[in-house]
Amino acid sequence: MKINDTDPLPVYKAAAQRYDRMKYRRCGNSGILLPMLSLGLWHNFGHTDDFTKARKIVRTAFDYGITHFDLANNYGPPYGAAEENFGRILNKDLMPYRDELFISSKAGYDMWPGPYGNFGSKKYLMASLDQSLKRMGLDYVDVFYSHRPDPETPLEETMGALHQMVQQGKALYVGISSYGPEETERAYDILKAMGTPLLIHQPKYNMFERGPEEGLLDVLGDKKVGSIVFSPLAQGLLTNKYLKGLPEDSRAVKDARYLTTSHITLDIIEKTAKLNRVAEKRGQTLAQMAIAWLLKDERVTSVLVGVSKKEQLLDNIKALDNIVFTKDELQTIDNILNG
Ligand SMILES: NC(=O)c1ccc[n+]([C@@H]2O[C@H](COP(=O)([O-])OP(=O)(O)OC[C@H]3O[C@@H](n4cnc5c(N)ncnc54)[C@H](OP(=O)(O)O)[C@@H]3O)[C@@H](O)[C@H]2O)c1
Repeated sequence: MKINDTDPLPVYKAAAQRYDRMKYRRCGNSGILLPMLSLGLWHNFGHTDDFTKARKIVRTAFDYGITHFDLANNYGPPYGAAEENFGRILNKDLMPYRDELFISSKAGYDMWPGPYGNFGSKKYLMASLDQSLKRMGLDYVDVFYSHRPDPETPLEETMGALHQMVQQGKALYVGISSYGPEETERAYDILKAMGTPLLIHQPKYNMFERGPEEGLLDVLGDKKVGSIVFSPLAQGLLTNKYLKGLPEDSRAVKDARYLTTSHITLDIIEKTAKLNRVAEKRGQTLAQMAIAWLLKDERVTSVLVGVSKKEQLLDNIKALDNIVFTKDELQTIDNILNG
């Protein structure tokens, strides 16, 4: 990440009206309120990105009442870089506001070589949290996630590690990500028996990928566990950006680690163009409608967006102005998606 010697930004003072600009939802039956829009640092916060731009995104987020920032051990590139850069942003701008922030990290995917740097062993999770805290310069994270289920490690061991982090005061709450409905129920039960509630689940959910509707949201609703949904814009596909070609600065073109130009199929473009017309009729951008469509379900506590510039964040925040859909609109959207 390119860092200037002289600070290019004025000293940060959070906007006085930040809490008038955001709406919050209770996370399950916990004491925690989360902003209905949260910011993820998976992309655009690595060492190859522009630090000042990244800093402006985080400042803008907090100025608009986004209190929740989502990280993981291996966000970058390289792995660890997003946590290091977020640590720098905290140090320069946000540390005076630490008690107003809700910061998460995770472990579960590939992080370091050998048998102890991946999946769900207690050895990996405990070591990874210590590393994340060092990189961010924090004493504790607000929530720590098991990033994905591990088919070979007993769930008791993985949940036991989460429980121990809470006991140690290194994580205030715990969560799971990308667990299926049955695994979620088991994880919930195991944690409950140990006395640590499952605060939140982080599944992938967007108009194109509706897996959570097949049981997971019902489990979360029944158990009163919160949810924060990731890739709500399908990494940018559910915006109007690819309707007129492939912008040079888009994720599919400039950073094809996960989204590549081969994902921008004719079918996707046709559906997106139709969805865009529905959004226009609602007086929203497609990004805003895609976010609103997720929030119409109250079991979704927060929508976790990524942005490459602060203007996108400002666009997305406006989604909260209208999260109500008519039956006709929902039917039209379903027809387009199933077409
Ligand atoms: N738990 C997990 O396994 C997991 C996995 C993936 C992500 N996550 C979390 O979820 C967060 C969000 O994921 P994501 O980045 O895939 O989310 P996303 O919101 O679906 O996609 C973000 C991308 O969409 C584009 N975008 C956003 N707002 C826009 C707007 N208003 N207009 C036009 N384009 C817009 C930008 O693309 P351009 O770069 O092209 O401008 C941005 O980088 C991550 O940062 C991470 O915290 C978790």
